[in-house]
Amino acid sequence: MAVEKERRDFLGMALGGFTAIGGIAALGAAKKTWDPLPSVKAAGFTVVDLTQMQENQVTIEKWRGKPIFILKKGADMKTNERDVVVDGTRYFVAIGLCTHLGCIPAYYPDQHKFICACHGGQFGTSGEVLKAPPQKPLVIPPFKIDGTKLVLGEEGPEYQELKSKNLIA
Ligand code: FES
Repeated sequence: MAVEKERRDFLGMALGGFTAIGGIAALGAAKKTWDPLPSVKAAGFTVVDLTQMQENQVTIEKWRGKPIFILKKGADMKTNERDVVVDGTRYFVAIGLCTHLGCIPAYYPDQHKFICACHGGQFGTSGEVLKAPPQKPLVIPPFKIDGTKLVLGEEGPEYQELKSKNLIA
């Protein structure tokens, strides 16, 4: 009788132990699902060295899961009040999502245009709408200029000035 009880106690403890381990493993898996990915955590700010940019070329960075266009403008390109001037060089910075339905437009350096393949929308080198269906310009993300670096995700004075003039979108 005593042996039978001990056997039951042992089986009970073993089963309890397995259940506890299973529960902990399930909680661990659930936490992994809820936690943001490391790339998302690190994506709060993106720092871009502007000295590496080439004229009339768009560099695409990623910030908070969105593509960010950075266009270094040449002297022959139209100036615009949305331009960001760093060390005498003009840049256009925008979230690279079409303001129609969110496709990613491509830059055509020979035409100085962003063209959206989804419905044919076109934007100029300052994100202004050149051709519908988009109704709004490309949106400028929060940024700060730190020397020759662009910090995406922080509202610096240059961004705040654009914002105060309603030039962000
Ligand atoms: S999503 Fe770009 S034109 Fe429609």
